[in-house]
Amino acid sequence: MKTQSVVSFELANWYKINKRDMPWRSSKDPYKIWLSEIILQQTQVVQGTPYYLKFIECYPSLQLLAQANEDDVLRLWQGLGYYSRARNLLYTAKYIKHQLHGVFPNSYAGLLQLKGIGDYTASAIASIAYNEAVAVVDGNVNRVISRLFKVNVSGKEGAKTIKNLAFQLLNQENPSEHNQAMMELGSLICKPQSPKCNICPISNHCLAYKDKVVKNFPSVSIKKEQKLRFLNFIVKLTPQGKVLLTKRTGNDIWKNMYTFPFIESNKTIEFLALLKEFDPKLEPFELLNIMSLTHILSHQILKATFYLIQSQTNTKANLLEMPSDSIWTVNESSSNIVENSFKKNNIFEVEFEMLGKTFPLPRLISKYIETKEIKEIFNKTCP
Ligand code: ADE
Repeated sequence: MKTQSVVSFELANWYKINKRDMPWRSSKDPYKIWLSEIILQQTQVVQGTPYYLKFIECYPSLQLLAQANEDDVLRLWQGLGYYSRARNLLYTAKYIKHQLHGVFPNSYAGLLQLKGIGDYTASAIASIAYNEAVAVVDGNVNRVISRLFKVNVSGKEGAKTIKNLAFQLLNQENPSEHNQAMMELGSLICKPQSPKCNICPISNHCLAYKDKVVKNFPSVSIKKEQKLRFLNFIVKLTPQGKVLLTKRTGNDIWKNMYTFPFIESNKTIEFLALLKEFDPKLEPFELLNIMSLTHILSHQILKATFYLIQSQTNTKANLLEMPSDSIWTVNESSSNIVENSFKKNNIFEVEFEMLGKTFPLPRLISKYIETKEIKEIFNKTCP
């Protein structure tokens, strides 16, 4: 047997015994495989499985997903991040239903035409659902191949080299099992930090292992610097105990999700400058809480400050009665303001209990409303 065939044979034997039980693995339904692969691009198997199960419970078929509305789909995706993937999932389900007569494309080339389906997802669906002989390369497979062949690669050329090697290894008879086995090996054995070479089924073919340089492969690419953003949220409670919310529009993060109105600045800004921007009339209010949270996205670090205020149109409390800590200085200019996240006509009042139930929220907002402090305040203020 050629070395490549020996490797895939030994890998297949290992996979038969060691593969994890995953709910989508018992199915050849391309819809389920598509969904699972999109979820697994966001998160690990353990964290992704409950999302998958909930999604399939609500939308057991592509036909049912195609009838869904976007708010409901985004709500199921809450916490996973990369909400454009959920929006594309819905868009493509509708497209297949209405433009392709409900017929899921059954080849790599056909799948690649769909919005939100790139090389990785098309290869995964085509091979797992239809047993098409295409090699899948995700981060795990990339690492396995880089070590096995001791190749260090970066950029487009590098990706091509890895893909070619992945094709050479591919078991043409059973690409479905082979690709899943490669991914499984990468996630269970050939780990980034502590690879378990002593129990690896293919270590005797691994060039990096032979030369004792496993840790050097693949070389770590220099990460692009993450953009730092300052988001200043006004969490405003009405006298009736409702809270103001807005729907995100535009092509920034959290498109079509709901947040408290916020103003973005290029550094920390003073509260009153912020408030003047939000409400130039400076309606009387009481400041109930200030909370800062840092939230990390793939390419951005969000420094969020939440100002929880209760409007007090019926009382005498007003700005002049606020404590005189430095944060209250009124003469701060608002020149640090980058962007006002909301349009006045896109702000509406909702019950606190409806947050996250009716309105899909980004993880940062859920994190905030789930803090003990904020829950307590809302429970006290809501009538
Ligand atoms: N990671 C992403 N998709 C996977 C799959 N189908 N099997 C194992 N790990 C994966």
